[in-house]
Amino acid sequence: QSGLDVDIYKIPIKAGTAEILPGVQTPVLTYGGRFLGPTIRAKTNRRVKIMYQNQLDMPANVHLHGGHVPSVSDGHPMDVIQPGQARVYDYPNTQQGATLWYHDHSHHMEAEHVYRGLQGFYLIEDDSERRLNLPSGAYDVPILLRDVEFDANGELIFFDDPANRTTILANGKAQPYFPVAARKYRFRLLNGSNEHVFQLNLGGETMTKIASDGGLLPAPVPVTEMQLASAERAEIVVDFARYPIGTQLVLSNGSDPILRFDVVRRAVDTSRVPDQLRPLPALPTPTVTRDVALSFDLTADPIGLVNGRPFDPARVDFQIKRGSTEIWNVVNADTFAIDHTFHMHLVQFRVLERNGAAPPQHDAGLKDTVRLPPGGSLKLQATFRDYLGKYVYHCHYLEHSSIGMMAQMEII
Ligand code: C2O
Ligand code: CU
Ligand code: CU
Repeated sequence: QSGLDVDIYKIPIKAGTAEILPGVQTPVLTYGGRFLGPTIRAKTNRRVKIMYQNQLDMPANVHLHGGHVPSVSDGHPMDVIQPGQARVYDYPNTQQGATLWYHDHSHHMEAEHVYRGLQGFYLIEDDSERRLNLPSGAYDVPILLRDVEFDANGELIFFDDPANRTTILANGKAQPYFPVAARKYRFRLLNGSNEHVFQLNLGGETMTKIASDGGLLPAPVPVTEMQLASAERAEIVVDFARYPIGTQLVLSNGSDPILRFDVVRRAVDTSRVPDQLRPLPALPTPTVTRDVALSFDLTADPIGLVNGRPFDPARVDFQIKRGSTEIWNVVNADTFAIDHTFHMHLVQFRVLERNGAAPPQHDAGLKDTVRLPPGGSLKLQATFRDYLGKYVYHCHYLEHSSIGMMAQMEII
């Protein structure tokens, strides 16, 4: 932090190695030298400038996923940093507190780059959230969950069926354990996998969900299991004071353990989870309705399509008036059973309907990424409040977006 009204960071983009499996050095790509990039902590309405220096021998860039940012700093797929060049991204942080993340978005390469390590947390905190007195400091812990596949030498395998990525990492480690105090913790969960959908549980114990992609929910929701698709975030509070010292709780994906919590010591806990967190912003009246269909055409090249066409950076698919509020009807139009997800840059949207009915709790709150299972449909509402320019929307299965399942909107 500086004494100015802006926080400034400098982060190299470079190759390196990481100890993901005990005793094995695995070649990875990094923001800042580590497999998981540095966690940036920003404040609402306080600017952050980050200079990224590309030390790779190929283009790379940085997209702030979930961020409300001017298009020049969005990390558009065609707006890349050439090898040896540096680039400053300027983030105004004019949005409420939320768990965002940053990752590579260089066109055709984003899937491989993110898989090999170009991702990290970007947390925005705001004053009204701080006044709620949720667990903070050492008790506010970001956890990036992702899948990975290793070869016999402990190197990452990328060019393979994503279904073979059967090793799950928490913050870059396979099956770590985390000693915790007998008190409340806030965990900011992010699914940083290219394609995985997690079904998370704590062995039947209660997790109190307090936030989704774009920040706090209106009220806490106790859950015992939770779906988390690629790029989605969910924040939970777990109260370890309810368990005796020596208890082990395991965060699992279905029946596969990911991360073990060991309750090791007593602690004073003055934090709380209030009954009311933050009301959602009022929904303005929409004036435009659009249809978006995601599909593959296995006979085409590239095969990924949005409304029947692959991504073309020279084409604007939707022109959107600044200040307008729109309804987007998004469908998984594939006739064979394949999952997609849907992500919009620039905005946090609301899910009004899923499959023609009121959405499940999972879709509540401010969202920027949602799962779209086979045959699925979504009715979303978004307001394009200020910034102009071109932004993309796409399937967030990065192997899909990198082969065309992406389109472009221009705010005018
Ligand atoms: Cu998480 Cu277009 O990206
Ligand atoms: Cu994004
Ligand atoms: Cu897809």
